[in-house]
Amino acid sequence: MRNAMRTAPAPVNRTERAAVPCHFLMCPPTHFRVEYAINPWMEPDRPVDRQLAVEQWSALRETLLRIGHRVELIEPLPSLPDMVFAANGATVVDGRALIATFRHPQRAPESDAYEKWFRGRGYQRVRRAEHINEGEGDHLLVAGMVLAGNGFRTTAASHGETRDHLRRPVVGLTLLDPRFYHLDTALAVLDDEQIMYWPGAFSPASRRRLAELFPAALRVEEQDAVRFGLNAISDGRHVLLPAAARSLAGRLAERGYQPVALDVSELAKAGGGPKCCVLQLRPPPRARP
Ligand code: ARG
Repeated sequence: MRNAMRTAPAPVNRTERAAVPCHFLMCPPTHFRVEYAINPWMEPDRPVDRQLAVEQWSALRETLLRIGHRVELIEPLPSLPDMVFAANGATVVDGRALIATFRHPQRAPESDAYEKWFRGRGYQRVRRAEHINEGEGDHLLVAGMVLAGNGFRTTAASHGETRDHLRRPVVGLTLLDPRFYHLDTALAVLDDEQIMYWPGAFSPASRRRLAELFPAALRVEEQDAVRFGLNAISDGRHVLLPAAARSLAGRLAERGYQPVALDVSELAKAGGGPKCCVLQLRPPPRARP
């Protein structure tokens, strides 16, 4: 009995988390620049170290591969300095691709490149969005539904088209703080059921909706949110997030996640972080292992 007591595991308040292998599309930052300002983080006069951006992006890609994910590449185009932010190109659910239609003319031609990529890969259900939506920047899949940001880029009017093409319920969430202009800067999906977010980025009605839908969500501090801590990629176990969001990494570890800190200083000068650089390719249901 005494032995049994000595070897009994100490009570821990963390669960063993399982990683789900994912498939991503990324775009190398070969032509990355900050030459216009379409969000408050972009300062065209501040120098960007493109070589460092390439190194940071490569480290992100290598990390994803090392932890067991697959990564496809789309060719970067010289005239599109924000194309590294592949999350914005489309939303893909069950092999159905909704190609983004961008708010700003500077990024509008990216849609053609993404449409061509998906059609060239044999995707059967490709739709070019009629309404403005900026892909996974504003569309996050959790608990079988699409959380859809609106207010700065994606329009509320686009949510019906998203529901119809992706065949998932869509919950519209209104962003109010211009620093958090895409949903994926204010909210991150941690696993099939759970999210983390900074309530301050949302309208009062959207905050209420989030509290109702995710009562146990991790509520992140503003100081981590402004360091793009919510622009995180989670596979259910590993959470890749900017190294600058230090206290958030600790809080994730307390909940049993494995934070993986990445330096994304150069991408942050365009208003982006790790999540902005990946577009998740979710296969048709029958193709799942
Ligand atoms: N400079 C880009 C823009 O303002 C950054 C996009 C970041 N992407 C994202 N998914 N949050 O459009």
